[in-house]
Amino acid sequence: MYKLIIHGGKPLHGSVKAAGSKNSSLPILFASILADAPITLNNTPQLSDISTTLRLLMSMGADFILESNSSLFVDSSKLNNLVADYNLVKTMRASILALGPMLTKYGKAKVSLPGGCAIGTRPVNLHLKALKELGASIKVENGYIYAKSDGLVGANIHFDQITVTATENIIMAATLAKDTTTISNAAQEPEISDLCHCLNKMGAKISGINTSNIIVKGVSKLNGVEYSVCSDRIEAATYLVAAAITGGSITVKNTNPKVIHSVLEKLIEIGADIKTGNQSIILNMKDKRPKAVSIKTGAYPNFPTDMQAQFTALSTIADGYSSITENIFENRFMHVPELIRMGANLTLENNTVVCKGVKSLTGAHLMATDLRASASLVLAGLAAKGTTIIDRAYHLDRGYETIEEKLKLLGADIERVQD
Ligand code: EPU
Repeated sequence: MYKLIIHGGKPLHGSVKAAGSKNSSLPILFASILADAPITLNNTPQLSDISTTLRLLMSMGADFILESNSSLFVDSSKLNNLVADYNLVKTMRASILALGPMLTKYGKAKVSLPGGCAIGTRPVNLHLKALKELGASIKVENGYIYAKSDGLVGANIHFDQITVTATENIIMAATLAKDTTTISNAAQEPEISDLCHCLNKMGAKISGINTSNIIVKGVSKLNGVEYSVCSDRIEAATYLVAAAITGGSITVKNTNPKVIHSVLEKLIEIGADIKTGNQSIILNMKDKRPKAVSIKTGAYPNFPTDMQAQFTALSTIADGYSSITENIFENRFMHVPELIRMGANLTLENNTVVCKGVKSLTGAHLMATDLRASASLVLAGLAAKGTTIIDRAYHLDRGYETIEEKLKLLGADIERVQD
């Protein structure tokens, strides 16, 4: 266990490079199960969720070689243990993405049912319903999902609720199914498009990419591939908020401004000067106090739930009343009581945080809970007067590559120490 110690109050300056996307890398690593040959994945971030995925794939019989810090050679083409064990699944819910690929390629899969989560109940009923519609027989027993089929068959799938990983699971399952699958009310997150582009490069026949209606024509096999994942839009946006909350000015490189349009709109509303290039974003918030905003999270292209906690931190020192409504996960507010301990004036009313901005926060000893809540505490600590200590900071390593190193390069006074 380690903690982060932050001496706040220093505006961030300079430039930072966004890493490859966590939420693109994870489904694509699971897509390697579908291929008949190894895949090489470039631009992958160094994160604990990536290590967990590799450990899970290895436990099923896959091999991998770390070719460089960000390049992975993964051979999941011949699995010999079609089980995703509870001990790994419990640490990363995205493990459910093993289900669709294993089932469609091998005709059976046993995947631990992910348990509870700090941000909501997060059931997987929509994954299972859609797989049944493709012809799978599924039972849940002793905490495990047992799925089998004599060959999935394409169907018209409609998701009653927009869901990112269920859309990904069904796309992957449909690639090797007989006939054509259509998916309506599909999630449209850029990470789903990235997965589809990679699968098409492997030989899949997916159209309707970037829309809510995806069509997958089944093929008999998928090949190996070399692919570079897109950059992490949530990491990039988190650094922009770090600059905004400290009254700094930074450039984020290796990032596509178009995929965080909804976040940039809100940063402009709080008073930031934003300039975008093809693969870069400059934010300037020098000598300015943020203005209050109203935010409602939603499925892409709406404001991402993965940026809600960071904007809640930003709103704590904004001029006026902000209102932040979380529409995706019912319990994604673990950061709120911690921010209140730093002097924030926040009230939680159902799924909305109402915030009366204060002039400044004060450092405190805090507890990190989930990934994005932890990021919001780091941002608050960077802006606060005095010292902030964040326990259980390992949550950050799931989604932010070397966060304290990147922040130090931007001028933050932050260090990681062992308990
Ligand atoms: N839902 C169901 N049943 C299902 C699936 C989802 O009721 O079978 C509900 C969820 O409980 C939630 C809503 O549908 O209320 C949307 O959840 P979704 O399935 O879209 O979330 P996810 O696929 O589990 C991914 C990301 C999350 C991100 C959400 C929303 C990955 C690996 N995870 O989760 O990322 O917050 O989409 O955009 O892609 C993070 O990176 O910090 C993170 C949590």
